[in-house]
Amino acid sequence: MAGESRIDPWSSQQSTDYARIRDNFGLSSVEISKIPNPNQLHRRGIIFAHRDLDVILGCIDRGDNFGVLTGLMPSGKMHLGHSMVIDQVKWFQEQGGDITVAVADLEALATRGTSLKEGRKLALSEYIHNYAALGLDPDKTNIYFQSMRPEVQRLGFTLGKKTNLSEFEAIYGFSGETNLAHVQAPLVQAGDIVHPQLDEYGGLRPIVVPVGVDQDPHIRLTRGLVGKTNWFNLKPRKSGGLTIGLSIQDENKSHMGVLDSGGINRQVRATIFEKLHTCLSQLGFADVLSNPKHGTLEIPGATRGDMSRIKISLLSLERSMGGMGLMPPCSTYHRFAVGMTGDKMSSSKPETTIFMHDTIEDMSKKVKRAFSGGRATIEEHRRLGGDLSKDVAYQYLEFFFEESDTELSSIARDYESGRLLAGEIKQICIDKASEWLTDLSDKRDQWVDRIDEFIATDSK
Ligand code: TRP
Repeated sequence: MAGESRIDPWSSQQSTDYARIRDNFGLSSVEISKIPNPNQLHRRGIIFAHRDLDVILGCIDRGDNFGVLTGLMPSGKMHLGHSMVIDQVKWFQEQGGDITVAVADLEALATRGTSLKEGRKLALSEYIHNYAALGLDPDKTNIYFQSMRPEVQRLGFTLGKKTNLSEFEAIYGFSGETNLAHVQAPLVQAGDIVHPQLDEYGGLRPIVVPVGVDQDPHIRLTRGLVGKTNWFNLKPRKSGGLTIGLSIQDENKSHMGVLDSGGINRQVRATIFEKLHTCLSQLGFADVLSNPKHGTLEIPGATRGDMSRIKISLLSLERSMGGMGLMPPCSTYHRFAVGMTGDKMSSSKPETTIFMHDTIEDMSKKVKRAFSGGRATIEEHRRLGGDLSKDVAYQYLEFFFEESDTELSSIARDYESGRLLAGEIKQICIDKASEWLTDLSDKRDQWVDRIDEFIATDSK
């Protein structure tokens, strides 16, 4: 892949060419008509892409279990941009998902030099406190620290066997100078993403990871690693139907009936195929063509639509045989709101964003100075109308502050037609943002002594 189309998850310089990102990295578009009870970000096309979201939508539809895993890096102050992940998480929570949140204290140490102690303090006082105020349900939310969950680190280490420095160079642009803690961070994140599937964390079920699109390299890496651990590959056949192929690896050779000499232990192989037959007949597929010697089994009558239930059954079989039995994570992505100066939003430049702890005065000042889509003179503005695509006040109403679609489109109409002036749309934004910030701060007050309810027992 060309270097220019790499995404650097640790840079504040994010590309905003979303169509290109989607195409370059093979993301799917979100089809709003398929989303039940779409939230504000769905309705406005801000959650714009996904990987395998259909798997989760299927669970929602059938009332099956699914998990949601996301993470936060405790570095700097929490701002508006960070709230979008919570909006995504809340929606999945409302649709029945169980929620796990990773506090990436190891990643903050590796990439920002934040000590674990400082990271913990920041996570509790800034991030988790605001997450609570933004409306996550503590009964269905478990927050843990990377540094305190050995299973996550063990899993990251184990998955590390399936990749190498060249792949890390290709995905992340790492080089000889990259410090080794930074090299470990993506593996720990892969551990974060996968571990809710472990039996002690809820067991085999689809996991969706709602994130900003800057995190996609980690999703891609994790999906690749998971695929390499699977013992049974399931693929569509060219002639229709599906094929299962055994994936022979160092770790599973003997279980798969491969002898040290390279020959096949027929007895072991036959047992595996019997188990495969049992799995498939339980799912209603009696007609299968097996070739134990080649390690393949064809199911002519199965369709692509059957893939996900066959896959789950193969993964449980793998687990019963001693494998990890992991599903590739699903993901959804939001776009980024523009910075208030019209440039990128960044916590290190306070004038580009609104922090959760900003006073109404701070916020008002920033909105008044924010980049505007208004024209040079009132006369020109009345004649030509404002430019919504550039106007920060409008976009912040759209992303964050104006819940009502009707209200938002009426503002848009008035602004584009020149009826509403730049100063006036800014005032609307200030009024709405004041309500939003005041409400958040009230809610924070309510949670001040109860943050502990969100923290998993191993991380208290
Ligand atoms: N890397 C993420 C960030 O920079 C934090 C993170 C850690 C994360 N583990 C995760 C995000 C797992 C999603 C899923 O904010």
